[in-house]
Amino acid sequence: MSRTVLLLLALVASADLARGDDKSRRPLTEDGGQPVGNNQDSRTAGPGGPVLLDNFQLIQKLARFDRERTPERVVHARGVGAHGEFVSYGDLSKTTKASLFSTADKKTPVFVRFSTVIHPGGSPESLRDPRGFAVKFFTDQGNWDLVGNNMPVFFIRDAMKFPDMVHSLKPSPVTNQQDPNRFFDFFSHVPESTHMLTFLYSDQGTPASLRKMDGFGVHAFKMVNAAGEVTYVKFQWRSLQGHATATADEAAAATAKNHSNLTQDLYEHITAGKFPSWELTIQMMKPTDLDKFAFNPLDATKVWTGVPETKIGRMTLNRVPDNFFEATEQVAFSPGMVVPGIEASEDRLLQGRLFSYADTQRYRLGTNYLMLPINRSLTEVSNNNQAGQGHVGATQGDVNYEPSVTSGGRRDNSTAEYSKAEIAGTIVQQPIAKTLNFQQAGELYRSFTEPQKVNLIKNIAGDLGKVKNPSVKRTIVSFFYQADPDYGTRVAKALGINLSEVTAAQPAR
Ligand code: HEM
Repeated sequence: MSRTVLLLLALVASADLARGDDKSRRPLTEDGGQPVGNNQDSRTAGPGGPVLLDNFQLIQKLARFDRERTPERVVHARGVGAHGEFVSYGDLSKTTKASLFSTADKKTPVFVRFSTVIHPGGSPESLRDPRGFAVKFFTDQGNWDLVGNNMPVFFIRDAMKFPDMVHSLKPSPVTNQQDPNRFFDFFSHVPESTHMLTFLYSDQGTPASLRKMDGFGVHAFKMVNAAGEVTYVKFQWRSLQGHATATADEAAAATAKNHSNLTQDLYEHITAGKFPSWELTIQMMKPTDLDKFAFNPLDATKVWTGVPETKIGRMTLNRVPDNFFEATEQVAFSPGMVVPGIEASEDRLLQGRLFSYADTQRYRLGTNYLMLPINRSLTEVSNNNQAGQGHVGATQGDVNYEPSVTSGGRRDNSTAEYSKAEIAGTIVQQPIAKTLNFQQAGELYRSFTEPQKVNLIKNIAGDLGKVKNPSVKRTIVSFFYQADPDYGTRVAKALGINLSEVTAAQPAR
């Protein structure tokens, strides 16, 4: 064959490929399944004329593209997820009727999402922030979500303050930049934030690897056994990879190199078969012991110092999602997603969360967000909720109500009822009684090594030094001083503030 003939054949073949005539490829279709005739050129009125509205496939392609973004999470927008498995260590039925803890070696699939809190989608992963540590357990009693952070406490103890706190931490509505003047102004009115601020400005605020950090449920929850007996519990995930944090300089260097360094680290280890694991532990407290502490154990700004941890299982992450959007973006965690045997405590921060998550998810993902594959329970979902945008359930028959004489109706099951709780008193709107705002922050400070203290003071001074209002500055330093005089003195010195002004500063309520 001559060179000219070969060239012609090659040209014909490449034109066929461009038109999609290669039989080995799957047909390209429209969303309705119809084959696409030409995915390269718009239909026009003549070679030089305008594009026609009857080019339905073009309109569909553009319209679908225009709608590719769902609303970003209002907090925790930047995240990374992975699939895995939880294995129970033993029989916990004395404490909880939750079936995932009923026998040793019982396996439950999980999906985990790690995140930063304040910074938007696509932001550098190494910026200072608490890290979200959210786990969805696909149990044989339906889904249980343990939606925690990498720090054991929180900034505030009442949901009433959450939107204001987040507004102060998010970029200014005027400058569109995060501004320490704004969030320290807010925190100067919130002395209970001192404990969490001490965690945040330590190097725990900049983890070097998501695999090497612990997770915490933060709140007290209730475990309930088959007899209806309640035990208050706090959950912890203890990393079996050890711990690794970055200094502020190391975090800045990591950010300069790669905005997705923590995702890269997690994905590379999982795909190389180096699966990260965490042990789940619980601290337990009898309801009758709740009043025996100098603080309120249902206050999310407190840890349960001295209460031992019991190991109850191990989680291993072993698969990265096939599709980031379908899994990591569309996953919806909620502290309200519990199984029989696990319940929310009366912690008023947690109570607010019970409403907020499902509410935002109905807005962010649509009414039927729990039908999305990543959120769907592995057990049968069977109730009379129906229809609405995006409904894809296989509703059968016409008995969409209950009770019913027919066997088609569905019945509730009293073994899954919530536990009972006695309540007496007057409805009020007032702060909790035992605030103990500074003691545990001082204990945390004293637990740090000298190099850790040096980094903490430097990190705080870096941001607090930008605050222009001297009274805000003094009040915040007075919080650190009340936690531990050495702590406050060193922050004051780093800021060039006279200590006598600090000790005089009175914290707001
Ligand atoms: C009243 C207090 C709080 C409110 C109102 C609140 C609200 C929210 C909202 C609206 C979202 C977005 C959810 C979504 O779009 O799917 C979210 C995400 C999240 N929150 Fe909270 N939050 C609160 C406190 C906390 C606390 C104390 C923790 C840690 C114990 C926490 C951990 C998380 C995590 C890990 C996520 C991200 C979940 C994911 O990866 O999708 N939040 N929060």
